[in-house]
Amino acid sequence: MIAVAGLAACSKKEPGGSSDDGKLTLGFSQVGAESGWRTANTKSVQEAAAAAGIDLKFSDAQQKQENQIQAIRSFIAQKVDVIAFSPVVESGWDAVLNEAKEAKIPVILTDRAIDSPDTSLYQTFLGSDFIKEGNLAGEWLVKQYEGKTDPVNIVELQGTTGSAPANDRKKGFGDIIAKDSKFKVVASQTGDFTRAKGKEVMEAFLKAHQDIDVLFAHNDDMGLGAIEAIEAAGKKPGIDIKIITIDAVHDGMQALADGKINFIAECSPLLGPQLMELVKKVKNGESVEKRIVTNETTFTQEQAKAALPERKY
Ligand code: AHR
Repeated sequence: MIAVAGLAACSKKEPGGSSDDGKLTLGFSQVGAESGWRTANTKSVQEAAAAAGIDLKFSDAQQKQENQIQAIRSFIAQKVDVIAFSPVVESGWDAVLNEAKEAKIPVILTDRAIDSPDTSLYQTFLGSDFIKEGNLAGEWLVKQYEGKTDPVNIVELQGTTGSAPANDRKKGFGDIIAKDSKFKVVASQTGDFTRAKGKEVMEAFLKAHQDIDVLFAHNDDMGLGAIEAIEAAGKKPGIDIKIITIDAVHDGMQALADGKINFIAECSPLLGPQLMELVKKVKNGESVEKRIVTNETTFTQEQAKAALPERKY
């Protein structure tokens, strides 16, 4: 059973129209609550909807595609003005998005992409360039080992299998390190973007491989779980094993400032305000860019120390 918040307050609507109180209604299907990034993203969406006077119907899919499909169908039945969602995985959306299209409800993809060739199924996709994030992680690593010839053994903690960030970050990182044969990915497995799974999988990596030089984790949370496993194995994270992660949420930045992570490529969760602007525009029939890429940066340990006091999440 999935949770759809806001239903109790749901007011009667005319087909395609706004709620009785004149507010736009947005049905938003969130991935879940798997990471610090996700918590910050949910907060950003909820606060931005309240600030924009948009009636938000929020649904948590608990990392399950079937829950998202069910939530989208429920939004269609309620005749919301706009549907936005962050797809758990890339494939398998055409049927339900065709239902939204037939019902003339515009759809916005936020954070994660789908792999359908039919781009008429959504108005726009707002989110990060995950391939670039993987590239940035790989480029930092290549620079660290410039001029060295010994093999560099890398383990990789992948995000949720089949999700856009897992697919793209793996590709982005892989494309860069493939240019130099000393970089070897000796193990790569999903940690489902969670701290608990990151720890569990890193424990297995440490048992199977005595000579790990580098960990590339597709998000901070898995990296933080892995740090616990590394310390429990008597090794020093950030020194014995270099750690690269993606996100730059508060706990990740703290570990970076503390020297336990070596480099983070940022993935901003603060998509709420831009999303609400897009909701208003698509509802008014205004044209919007098909792809809107979030502005992001990277952090070294020194940069994390400087940025932490002002960090919002
Ligand atoms: O889709 C964005 C990714 O999802 C974040 O990097 C990760 O932390 C989250 O779970």
